[in-house]
Amino acid sequence: MENGTDKVAEEEDIVNPWEVQSSSSKGVDYDKLIKRFGSSKVDQDLIDRIERITMKTGRKVHHFIKRGLFFSHREMNKILDLYEQGKPFYLYTGRGPSSQAMHLGHLIPFIMTRYLQEAFDVPVVVQLTDDEKFLWKSLTLEECYNLAKENTKDIIACGFDPDKTFIFSDLDYIGSCKEFYWNMKRVEKCVTFNQARGIFGFSDTDCIGKISFPAIQAVPSFSTSFPHIFNGRKDIPCLIPCAIDQDPYFRMTRDVAPRLKLMKPALLHSVFFPALQGAQTKMSASEPTSSIFLTDTANQIKNKINRYAFSGGRDTVEEHREKGGDCEVDVSFQFLKFFMEDDERLEQIRQDYSSGKMLTGELKKELISVLQPLVAKHQEARAKATAEVVEKFMSIRKMPCSDKYPPPVPGASSKKKKKKQKVDSVDDVAKNVEEKLHCGKVET
Ligand code: TYM
Repeated sequence: MENGTDKVAEEEDIVNPWEVQSSSSKGVDYDKLIKRFGSSKVDQDLIDRIERITMKTGRKVHHFIKRGLFFSHREMNKILDLYEQGKPFYLYTGRGPSSQAMHLGHLIPFIMTRYLQEAFDVPVVVQLTDDEKFLWKSLTLEECYNLAKENTKDIIACGFDPDKTFIFSDLDYIGSCKEFYWNMKRVEKCVTFNQARGIFGFSDTDCIGKISFPAIQAVPSFSTSFPHIFNGRKDIPCLIPCAIDQDPYFRMTRDVAPRLKLMKPALLHSVFFPALQGAQTKMSASEPTSSIFLTDTANQIKNKINRYAFSGGRDTVEEHREKGGDCEVDVSFQFLKFFMEDDERLEQIRQDYSSGKMLTGELKKELISVLQPLVAKHQEARAKATAEVVEKFMSIRKMPCSDKYPPPVPGASSKKKKKKQKVDSVDDVAKNVEEKLHCGKVET
């Protein structure tokens, strides 16, 4: 472990941007995590509300939301309020390009972001933290930058709309955009070393680049960091879909935003896509046998699942037939929850496996038949993301949707005052949850 502060008690799950570890075979206790992090549960009312809104554009609520895989949020209701009032928002997510091959877990926030882009017709910004990976890994700047471009192809393959999506490498964009850099400085000035250490667990031997990095992940949450899209407007709120390991960055961001008279980002958190070996930890690219990579062949997928996927089945066929398997710990079933869209078929599998009618080998076969075409389809879409296409998504450009955000009128002081009040009132709503800066020790 490189960093981390959540070792509050021996039994407590560890969840931070660098490590996810639970002592339970069922994985992280997400209800407890919601309490510890001070976020809110995605409850049935919120799911129904999202469904009501998306149904207007003919889309069902995504099964990631319906099945509780996006289980936690911060102020998602506020984003929906604004949307229903016809006011704009944008989506922000990201990737730390540390390896060529992304895995199935990395797809989860991108699939959700793409769904939300389509359902709400909003722009997306995707940050590639190649600078972060340079600081944390034994990689050169050139390698990180090239990995950012390679990973961009996987992100594009998720189906993002080129007219509404800006994907940027920190190593590229920060030197080209004064407003982004200035926002970084503003955030850096608001957070002390003590606070950064409290949130992220930095130690005396960490290089100073790591200590200031969180400001870089924070500022895409502010619309002023993208003047080519939002024309200098600071009142366009942001929603961040990500797995909950990234939350510490955004707790810090939400703490500093009101001090900068900027809007706090809203968040939608997912659970972790488990490692093949079991839900005690997440699928991670640094543990190759824990992962199914988006570059894997059909045969590799089959072999990995057959060899490594932790089974909730019994020791013998007789015992399994008699007592049934445990879907809650079975990794193949957990994977199907993410990627089998057919609710009825999934429920049938759950019943058959739990009753012992279906054996582990049969369950694994079901999973293989879902994942092989899914990964093949991804590879096909990725092959279409040529250097030219990558260039388009990554170029600093006006987008057709930029016209929706007319720039603030200079000198219109009374108007400005009104706008300022509006921003503040949005922040007031956000103040409902009073947060402390410490990772894992947020109190409501
Ligand atoms: P990174 O590259 O570690 O992960 C990219 C995104 O994938 C999520 N993720 C997972 N989701 C479900 N199951 C898993 N097993 C799993 N592993 C990773 C992460 O939560 C993340 O959403 N510092 C960030 C890059 C970043 C970012 C952001 C991420 C910059 N700005 C804004 C989210 C939102 C990183 O290294 O992510």
